[in-house]
Amino acid sequence: MNLNDPKKIAAEKAVEEIKDDMIVGLGTGSTFHFALLKIAERIQSGELKNIKCVASSKQTELKAAELGIPLVTLNELYKSGRRTSSQSATKTADKFSIDLTIDGADELDKDLNLIKGGGGALLREKVIVQASKKFIVVVDESKLSKKLGMNFPVPVEVLQFAVEAEKSFLESLGANVSIRKNSDGEHFITDEGNFILDAKINAIENVDEFASILEQRAGIVEHGLFRSCLVSKVVCSFSDGSVTEWNSYKL
Ligand code: A5P
Repeated sequence: MNLNDPKKIAAEKAVEEIKDDMIVGLGTGSTFHFALLKIAERIQSGELKNIKCVASSKQTELKAAELGIPLVTLNELYKSGRRTSSQSATKTADKFSIDLTIDGADELDKDLNLIKGGGGALLREKVIVQASKKFIVVVDESKLSKKLGMNFPVPVEVLQFAVEAEKSFLESLGANVSIRKNSDGEHFITDEGNFILDAKINAIENVDEFASILEQRAGIVEHGLFRSCLVSKVVCSFSDGSVTEWNSYKL
């Protein structure tokens, strides 16, 4: 393991924000993996007490369990009526049950909009982020881009039933679309039992508008565009070892 890996530097910086008694959303992917190791280390050393975590994928759930990180499901959290520390019990809408979620991204534009889902966990990741008071994105400089879509396709999770119809729809928008496959040539199947279409678009001029178009399709379960309004902060590391933080809109 490269101790100066920029992914590790960004991930560990974000983990500093986890405090005792928090409910923490766990992301998915190679950058987040470093965060997971650091969380486990802080728990084992006794530095971090009484935290509970919600995993955004089966993959992360397994790794977290192996590392002895205490897990709870999203449903258990909401059923317990748990609120984040700043929310009073008298509030009618229990909007956030998770204090802080940390996760990686595949591409990030200057407005802090993201493409996520390279690992295929975009649906659960978005659910977790929408249930979180704060969302910290951890990236290295290779993820920065002028416009989303220039470097990475938009992963689109679709019903198996609708895969060809939605592929054709995305192509009608000008995308070059492939159905995601595993290395054995079989279809990649998400944790929720759906397929992923990877839609390559040269550059997305208006992220909000493009996301809204995708959201109108019944066969599209979710897409990997995460609007900047979901993001609290981005921690970005550079190859020289430096780290920069950018704040966004959420809270
Ligand atoms: C998982 O579905 C993704 O959203 C990841 O968070 C994203 O692909 C970043 O992954 P890496 O940190 O492995 O690049």
